[in-house]
Amino acid sequence: MTDLGGKIVYQIYPKSFRDSDGDGQGDLPGVIEKLDYLQGLGVDYLWLTPVFPSPQNDNGYDVADYCAIDPGFGTMEDMERLIAESGKRGLKVMLDMVFNHTSTDHEWFRKALAGEKEYQDYYIFRDGTPDQLPANWQSKFGGPAWEYVPALGKWYLHLYDVTQADLNWENPRVREELKNVIRFWKEKGVKGFRFDVVNLISKPEVFTDDMEGDGRRFYTDGPHIHEYLKELVGDTGIGEFMTVGEMSSTHIEDCIRYSNPEERELSMCFNFHHLKVDYKNGDKWSLMEPDRMELKRLFEEWQTGMQEAHGWNALFWCNHDQPRIVSRLGDEGQHWKQSAKMLGACIHLMQGTPYIYQGEELGMTNPHFQDIGQYKDVESLNYYGILLEQGKTKEEALKILAARSRDNSRTPMQWSGEAGCGFTDGTPWIETAGNYREINVQAQMADGDSVYHFYRRLIELRKEKSVISRGSIDFLMQENPDVLAYRRKYQDEELVVLNNLTGKEITVPTEVVWCGYEKILGNYEDSCVKNGTVSLRPFEVLVLEKRR
Ligand code: GLC
Repeated sequence: MTDLGGKIVYQIYPKSFRDSDGDGQGDLPGVIEKLDYLQGLGVDYLWLTPVFPSPQNDNGYDVADYCAIDPGFGTMEDMERLIAESGKRGLKVMLDMVFNHTSTDHEWFRKALAGEKEYQDYYIFRDGTPDQLPANWQSKFGGPAWEYVPALGKWYLHLYDVTQADLNWENPRVREELKNVIRFWKEKGVKGFRFDVVNLISKPEVFTDDMEGDGRRFYTDGPHIHEYLKELVGDTGIGEFMTVGEMSSTHIEDCIRYSNPEERELSMCFNFHHLKVDYKNGDKWSLMEPDRMELKRLFEEWQTGMQEAHGWNALFWCNHDQPRIVSRLGDEGQHWKQSAKMLGACIHLMQGTPYIYQGEELGMTNPHFQDIGQYKDVESLNYYGILLEQGKTKEEALKILAARSRDNSRTPMQWSGEAGCGFTDGTPWIETAGNYREINVQAQMADGDSVYHFYRRLIELRKEKSVISRGSIDFLMQENPDVLAYRRKYQDEELVVLNNLTGKEITVPTEVVWCGYEKILGNYEDSCVKNGTVSLRPFEVLVLEKRR
């Protein structure tokens, strides 16, 4: 796809976006109601997380039918209307394709369970006895990755929940079925696809125990992954669509191949390495202060590494699986607004395609749930049990969930300060964050200095300046743990972005002060660029453009 750098994607988690009928759950008519808002923000693509029929054990990532709409979200007519109404506003719809696994409620899996050999071959079944797992791999949601079916005398693989059975991509019929799903949605006018954990689809031929880890090294960026992607994209003719792969624990060499246009695989990749800098020993469930040097190192590695080899990054902090970034790397208190703006600018001005997750443009925070009864997410509930088994107290386990749970991002979109935060007239399926009275769309649209208006400006700037959408990037002040700084260049345009990652004031040494540059964006009214020094206030971002 051309001009990838000029596009911005907005991610909608429909269940928590806008409820049009008062049942407490967001729906497609609710998304349609808010299209003017999204157009006003200036984004180009709307990525909707799965709205297909599903038992909702993993909030729709357990798909029971890829070519229909779950009644909880609406009807196929609603989806068609959403695509058409988006189109009228210059917005394109991207759907989420969960092709690593299906729900065990899917017709294919049911037929497999009923003994149909042909459909057993759609999944990864292994003969065995109940006491002998095919391999010691762990599910990403905790516990073993295999489930025994006594009636068949077989185990099946599930890298996620036990109700999410992994598909067998080795089987050409499976690949054909999935291509048909793409063709179906393409026909409906969908213009982009996000592929869920797509780098896990190619499993090794033989399953062996992993003595060093949970098995991921055997199936991450697996043996036939590049072939399968080329086939899927080539045979469905979506090479010119906006396509993004969610790449779990991936490697840069593979991401280069996934996204280099010459390879004809995908437009870009999500990688998560920069979102693990606060995982102690790489463990999501062990808390630690973010390692800012590591964050800087990872950004530099992925930005310059992908640039050199013509790969392309999806730029993001937030999604429906990640805690809110302001709560994580910013400040929920005194410097809330500045930190939300700085974090936005920090990634929006890098090389790649930026993604905004609903509410990020308001600086939404984690909800700070204090009771296990407030959590809904399968992963959080499983890990709560695991943490208790490991000997943590309830308080300790709840503290970890409050920082790490995926529910942190799934609380209702904060449209207004009214009860139900303008999300619903009923009881929301998950509790709202208490601060919706202060942090909401209505208040921020009316305030020219809000986080919302800052995001609008970031989007506009990317559209105005080729140096942002097309420029090269190099990193500055690599040794300074507090400031993430980079330079963008395109023909005779040049931009320098300085992000103070901390809540303290920092003076940047004189040799990195640029004469002949002027401030074009910041999150403080004035700026302290004087006679050879720059003083960056807490979470300040300063964007300097070279005068021409
Ligand atoms: C992806 C999704 C996540 C889901 C998982 C399994 O990581 O983003 O929400 O639970 O895949 O489909």
